[in-house]
Amino acid sequence: MIDTRMALCWPRGLDARRFLQCYWQKAPLLVRGALPGFRDRLPRARLAALAQREDVESRMIARTRRGDGYRYRVEHGPQNARSLARLERPDATLLVQGVEAHVAQARAVFDAFGFVPLARRDDLMVSDASPGGGVGPHVDSYDVFLLQARGRRSWRIARAFDEALDEDAPLKILARFRAEQEFVLEPGDFLYLPPGVAHDGIALDACATWSIGFRAPGARELAHDWLAFVDDRFDRDARYADPDLQMQRSGAWLSDQFVERSRRMLGRLVFDRARFEEFLGAYLTEPKAHVRFVAPARPISFERFVETARINGVALAAASRMLHRGRYLFINGEVATVPMRARAHARRLADHRSLDGAHLPADVDGGRWANALYDWYCSGYIRLR
Ligand code: SIN
Ligand code: CO
Repeated sequence: MIDTRMALCWPRGLDARRFLQCYWQKAPLLVRGALPGFRDRLPRARLAALAQREDVESRMIARTRRGDGYRYRVEHGPQNARSLARLERPDATLLVQGVEAHVAQARAVFDAFGFVPLARRDDLMVSDASPGGGVGPHVDSYDVFLLQARGRRSWRIARAFDEALDEDAPLKILARFRAEQEFVLEPGDFLYLPPGVAHDGIALDACATWSIGFRAPGARELAHDWLAFVDDRFDRDARYADPDLQMQRSGAWLSDQFVERSRRMLGRLVFDRARFEEFLGAYLTEPKAHVRFVAPARPISFERFVETARINGVALAAASRMLHRGRYLFINGEVATVPMRARAHARRLADHRSLDGAHLPADVDGGRWANALYDWYCSGYIRLR
């Protein structure tokens, strides 16, 4: 195991709390030497091997000069030897998503940004580029820490910019980008960008950048999934009722009472608070499309699982996402109700991603907690330590 714990080094006068107060979602921030002693232990060959897997999302982005701009080509993964060979020439970038689920050092770096609540975390993307490589000037809807892992990259950024996109590009690239500021990042430096700041990163040498990304759900996608969730659980027999109906002066008037009562009927069905909490936790822990969990080929019995877990403890699988709220524990898009006496353990597992054996009494509430853990073990969501 390498670098299992890593702490960020903030400039004088700044710490995680002050960062959230002064910069988070507000302003870009460059931090030099944020990870003292950090050395990228993810060689290009290892990243390339990940990019060839079906269960890993990747893109190869190559560009060639066209007039005073570039023409871009994108190849979606899984990559092959031919597409990967493009990295041997200038102006190419290999992007690999979700690396924290596969590389221990990436997980440790991801966790070094643990001062941002887990519900906001997205993933760690590694971008490995040949000199001149870049994905073009663009804007993200994400908060991102762009950590320079190897080599140097120049970042040009602008808070005010022309939003017009390059119509011919296969990516969302700004057609007329003019930088307001430029920074050259060296290994261990990071640049924080809130959503909506245009940026353009260009590899000055063969270099690697690790993007620690934080998502914020868009109202449109959230509403879409929420309405689908509610539709499945709707009380289909609920109906407008007016046993107190009165005569109206204008028979054609759609009365206040009709509008208000219908609104309240729907409000009760659609905006049920407990149901919404259940939905949101499941939504935020939903694995990305590429993620596959590996179930044990020959799972051990429940009794042996409990016995071993009580000695060695359990840990979340690297790709698992877990959140807790009240009696609910959310894991990979599923919801479990945790018995009162097991809640402290459940939270510990969600916060620390692992649980010591001593925290695992088998008989908590008739073994319901142990049963849930066993089910997750069988699904590949957790493993024995
Ligand atoms: C990159 O690292 O090449 C792109 C990351 C980004 O612009 O968000
Ligand atoms: Co970006």
